[in-house]
Amino acid sequence: MAADHAPGAPDTAEMVLVHRLFLQEYTAAVALVRAVRAGDTARAAVVAGHLGALGQMLTEHHRAEDELLWPRLAADPALDAAVVARMEEQHEHIAAALARLHRALPQWAAGAEPDLTAQVAHACTVLLPALEEHLGDEERHILPLVPGRFTAAQWAQLSARGRAAVPPAHRLYMLAALGEAAGNKHRQEFLRRLPAPVRLLYRVAGRRLRRRTWHRLSTTPGHRRRAAA
Ligand SMILES: [Fe+2]
Repeated sequence: MAADHAPGAPDTAEMVLVHRLFLQEYTAAVALVRAVRAGDTARAAVVAGHLGALGQMLTEHHRAEDELLWPRLAADPALDAAVVARMEEQHEHIAAALARLHRALPQWAAGAEPDLTAQVAHACTVLLPALEEHLGDEERHILPLVPGRFTAAQWAQLSARGRAAVPPAHRLYMLAALGEAAGNKHRQEFLRRLPAPVRLLYRVAGRRLRRRTWHRLSTTPGHRRRAAA
């Protein structure tokens, strides 16, 4: 991840952190989906809700880049035309993989049938390498061009769009997951970006928050009630 940005310069490291969050969560989702037992619709619905939230965030991440980033950079002489073409192709590939995944989610959540469980897990595994390649290209070829072509305020619009795309019911989970994606190395940098009340919440309860939100995602609601009884 890039080092802290200079004062007044666009904070591109924040986007790298968001990319890590997507890769971390789709990787974890493969095992989460596969662990859903046949007919366990309660758990399938929770995992499907999580994948729905991630998909909404990823779609908006790309839509905001299409609207705010590419019009400024696509024709930039510093950018190799072959890279632009490859990245456009990757965007389409990712959009198609996401669409396949999201088409399967409602039926999977309703029945938790093993065939559909395998289909949803497979859709996540297909999405991952495409996403990894695309986000890596973006970090290698696009983000280094941003300082000097975007002001901090212009770049901050992308972050604002990303934050607004997180469904309210998933905000605590995503905050905890983002802290994990930052790791110990980038934890301070991650904390500095948070509004003061959220930073305090994370400092006081970050680890507990991650345990609790992960537990909610990875166990069946009925089992949780029985365990709590
Ligand atoms: Fe991005």
